Amino acid sequence: MTDAAGEQPIKQRKNGLYTGVSDELAENMKTGWADTELRELEPITQAGEAAARRAKLSARFPGERLVIPAGNLKTRSNDTEYPFRSSVEYAYLTGDQTEDGVLVLEPAAADGHSATLYLLPRSNRENGEFWLDGQGELWAGRRHSLSESEKLYGLPCADIRTATEALREASGPVRVVRGHDAGIEAALEDKTTAERDEELTGFLSELRLVKDEFEIGELQKAVDSTVRGFEDVVRSLDKAQATSERYIEGTFFLRARVEGNDVGYGSICAAGPHATTLHWMRNDGAVRSGELLLLDAGVETRTLYTADVTRTLPVDGRFTELQRKIYDAVYEAQEAGIAAVKPGGKYLDFHHAAQRVLATKLVEWGLVEGPVERVLELGLQRRWTLHGTGHMLGMDVHDCAVARRETYAEGTLEPGMCLTVEPGLYFQADDLTVPEEYRGIGVRIEDDILVTEDGNRNLSAALPRASADVETWMAELKA
Ligand code: GLY
Ligand code: MN
Ligand code: MN
Repeated sequence: MTDAAGEQPIKQRKNGLYTGVSDELAENMKTGWADTELRELEPITQAGEAAARRAKLSARFPGERLVIPAGNLKTRSNDTEYPFRSSVEYAYLTGDQTEDGVLVLEPAAADGHSATLYLLPRSNRENGEFWLDGQGELWAGRRHSLSESEKLYGLPCADIRTATEALREASGPVRVVRGHDAGIEAALEDKTTAERDEELTGFLSELRLVKDEFEIGELQKAVDSTVRGFEDVVRSLDKAQATSERYIEGTFFLRARVEGNDVGYGSICAAGPHATTLHWMRNDGAVRSGELLLLDAGVETRTLYTADVTRTLPVDGRFTELQRKIYDAVYEAQEAGIAAVKPGGKYLDFHHAAQRVLATKLVEWGLVEGPVERVLELGLQRRWTLHGTGHMLGMDVHDCAVARRETYAEGTLEPGMCLTVEPGLYFQADDLTVPEEYRGIGVRIEDDILVTEDGNRNLSAALPRASADVETWMAELKA
């Protein structure tokens, strides 16, 4: 472990705010500060799981240096930045989420790897960086010292300002997770290839397909907060009717921000015909009595696991006859999809089961000519079902996105995998092939399903799904 060298020059802020500091003030600011080092610190809860994940990574790439950056702050405009969210690879392998952090797995002489976590240490007081530098703790908040971080993460830590040089000088094969830290990638430019780096990222994506106990607990927490967020929205529907979809977005966001880190993706608060736009995130429409509200939203925990849940709710608390007919068809499709989620089954079984139900309904209603087998073969139901029936869920809402087809889309379900089951039916407002009364109705029901040893568990079962249960639940919340 190394600590801040105290040799770093002070960076002036671009606007020159700090020019003209008197020598007396500079001297004064160096001293008179208490020692706040935290000497008794317990490791983070997931330190053991993170070590086990690193061990799997190490076993896959023996003898190679592996570099996993957290990423940097991204400019929003001028000198303001987006809230930082660490790369999932870094958070997964360390449990840390600090901007600019880098995990390096160095091939060990004998076997395996030795890991080092590169972080920005506490601000130096002698050279004034703690109050004169934009990254100084007086501006950005207290950081962990490197020795505190060692205790928290169970990893040797080093000053991030030494990482680039160390990587530049290192010899031997290197792989880096790309797309997060341009500075680190530049330092490794002539040592890595896109193809080899993709193998590293792909392996990490596949490693995350099966969740460990810690992750399952976090996913359940994300879902539980999401359930409370949906309850908040139902309680606020009267106010939303007086305002807009924005009110619903803000209501859910409050729960996400208080109980978690953020929302895991832009909330889809789609009232009336907006429900037929799959990623309606403008959320600037009215919420009207008699219409449906499709709410697709998920709280992300502070450890970055997200829920992804959709309910389609009658704004007044009661479905009309046609809304109920369409809703019940989607519900039946979702039931069939959930029943198909089991260990040993093919991943896509749930999709096919749900699509079959929806195609059958569309034929029954006379919207498409049967038989059902023909509709499914030609994919004709997709005019109204539009999207795949689900996806893996975890630290990304569309998790494990770069896993190979053979392990994901064409793979087999295993206990510990978590996926959404989210069929829908969408009748666009301008779809002349359906009776007028269908137009502008969109329904999706989405739950988060964990594959267990003997079947599955619906993590979001606390939110009612059947149409009658939804109505009862809404009436109770609004009472
Ligand atoms: N919320 C995006 C999705 O359901 O996939
Ligand atoms: Mn989803
Ligand atoms: Mn969703």
